[in-house]
Amino acid sequence: MNQTETKEKEIIVTEKSPKKFFVETYGCQMNVSDSEIVIALLQKDGYESAPSAEEADVVLINTCAIRENAEDRVRARIRDFKTQKKHNPELIIGVLGCMAERLKTQLLEEESLVDLVVGPDAYRSLPGLITKIEEGEKAVNVVLSLEETYSNINPVRFSGNKITAFITIMRGCDNMCSFCVVPFTRGRERSRDPESIVEEAKLLFEQGYREITLLGQNVDSYKWFGGGPKKDFGKVLEENRDVKTVSFADLLEMVALVNPLLRVRFSTSNPQDMTDEVLHVIARHHNICKYVHLPMQSGSTRVLGIMNRGYDREKYIQRINAIRTIIPDCGLSTDVIAGFCSETDEEHKETISLMEMVKFDYAYMFPYSERPGTPAAKKYKDDVPEDVKLKRMQEILALQRHHSMVGNKSDIGKVFEVLVEGHSKRSKEHVFGRNTQNKAIIFASDKHKAGDYATVKVTSCTSGTLIGEMVN
Ligand code: SAH
Ligand code: F3S
Repeated sequence: MNQTETKEKEIIVTEKSPKKFFVETYGCQMNVSDSEIVIALLQKDGYESAPSAEEADVVLINTCAIRENAEDRVRARIRDFKTQKKHNPELIIGVLGCMAERLKTQLLEEESLVDLVVGPDAYRSLPGLITKIEEGEKAVNVVLSLEETYSNINPVRFSGNKITAFITIMRGCDNMCSFCVVPFTRGRERSRDPESIVEEAKLLFEQGYREITLLGQNVDSYKWFGGGPKKDFGKVLEENRDVKTVSFADLLEMVALVNPLLRVRFSTSNPQDMTDEVLHVIARHHNICKYVHLPMQSGSTRVLGIMNRGYDREKYIQRINAIRTIIPDCGLSTDVIAGFCSETDEEHKETISLMEMVKFDYAYMFPYSERPGTPAAKKYKDDVPEDVKLKRMQEILALQRHHSMVGNKSDIGKVFEVLVEGHSKRSKEHVFGRNTQNKAIIFASDKHKAGDYATVKVTSCTSGTLIGEMVN
């Protein structure tokens, strides 16, 4: 649609020798997806992508604030760029994303050579802010929005395998889990227009992509009401049944119907909102991957209560049982926090026992990190000693490693459909891909290339990878 426009821009670009930018991304998949939006916005404005930070006029660090160590890593990186700036005083250093939103102008004061601070909802203002800096000012925009979904922006997939891509379907989060900084850094929850999501999926398929992951902090609460997002139409709708609503189950189905060869994944589900309807849609469509990431955080009902997670141990188990009943052979992963405020040894054991019960294929495990301004930081003491947190983490880690190994061993002899993502790092003769359960599989092949589907029988494994052979 915008091809002529792009061409014209390219001509202008050559004449003016445009500024070059480089985006470095930290944190979650949502940040990767946001960086793709930032790149699209800057390119649309005539900026050019630099191959490395050293060759850039503008360096943008897209940051994560979820745990203290994530912020420490970003601070160290800002310091690296400040050294670079000593050799190149014209260099513009910008901080984007969650840490920008959390610390706002504080970043300009503390990290005095940072020129630009832009929160997750303000990326459209980036070109204007960069111009402002060129005029000698510092620039900040950390205004959170109730509407922004960047739905008309076609993200530029800057790296990766050109086979798998993320599509953001909603932004923000209204859940207010007591430990979590996301509602403060990403603002209120809002859903993106489903038509623009389906269009993006179609375009990706035409470009050769074969797997998309729909992203949201809590995908189960995705809701699109006729002409607009929830907050504007909620009340009107209850009285007006003619307005068509699109739920997450509907959206999942709409995207699955784009093409049977396009795999669909999503992240993240929330135990308090995940419906059986979504599970039935997954079961019904071969190309919706049989894999659910369902963060548990803790196995203790009391701890879940003070985490404000909106479910208890029983409800979590009930959701796992629903998954197992409706989608047999579903891959399962989770998030666990070790050593949340006032967690006792007994309560930690409840986390261990819930993990024993479910036997996740994979888990992401974190020691609790107090985030300033969150409800937990205000209400509860971060009173589990660091060494106890780490000991609990180690226990959780060891158990998960064991479960991953047992799970992988039980796959030996099974046959899976694998979407090939590229060559294995291990050897040129092997290719790498994933099965529907999201498990990594490598197998020898000289006839499969990235984007092909292969039938593979598992012959051996490690705790992280299945090893297999082609089946004709
Ligand atoms: N709903 C989101 C959660 C984002 S944060 C999603 O899309 O996954 C990812 C994980 O980080 C959470 O599930 C939680 O396990 C962990 N986490 C969040 N805040 C934390 C904190 N303050 N300390 C330790 N871990 C935390
Ligand atoms: Fe954070 Fe809970 Fe939302 S973990 S992102 S507040 S669902």
